[in-house]
Amino acid sequence: MASKTALTYRRPTLGRDYWVQDDILPNADEVSRRCYARTDWELGAPHTDQIWPGRRAPHALAPDELERVDAWVRQVTKAWRLWVVPAHEGRMSYHNYAQLVGRGESRPRPHTDPRGECRYAAVIYLSPRPDPNAGTSFYRLLYPNGQLGGNLCGPRSADLSQALGVASLPLTSWYEEVSVENRFNRIVLYRADLVHSASSYFGSDHADKRMTATFFWMA
Ligand SMILES: [Fe+2]
Repeated sequence: MASKTALTYRRPTLGRDYWVQDDILPNADEVSRRCYARTDWELGAPHTDQIWPGRRAPHALAPDELERVDAWVRQVTKAWRLWVVPAHEGRMSYHNYAQLVGRGESRPRPHTDPRGECRYAAVIYLSPRPDPNAGTSFYRLLYPNGQLGGNLCGPRSADLSQALGVASLPLTSWYEEVSVENRFNRIVLYRADLVHSASSYFGSDHADKRMTATFFWMA
């Protein structure tokens, strides 16, 4: 079990630690159709031994669409510059990827994103008829005695596994503190060092599964 000092706690606060904007894309129908129509998927779990779930394909948004999103991120975070860490040393960059995951393909996996690769992360929900309970959740540690712990991966650790000293913890070791509903064409942006996950997944047919576009920025 993780030590009680492994993570610090910061109450996830809208407008400070995470941001939500509906109707982020003016052409979400077109973007969604384009993403579902992709045929160049790279497969993740459970189809391969990758740890990320479902399937994904690059260039979810076109450059002009991405620029609108970048402008909004800069506006709400007050970051004067955003940049993307390119693929390096065997690590891929999954910025601006379409990701499609069905109900049977994964479960929530609370995690933080690597500190060296992003300060902010975001998803845009692109399923036209989503399960509203399958948005994005923020978690804090839950100890066996019921005590609640932290949720923030501090600067001394590159990621959550390093902070906790274990590869991962079961879902029962996490308390779901905040969940943001999945709504078509909504973006959820958050500090990447807060413990987070997809709240759940839905759909069994290709056209019904949970489609998102995913983003990772340094600032
Ligand atoms: Fe993440």
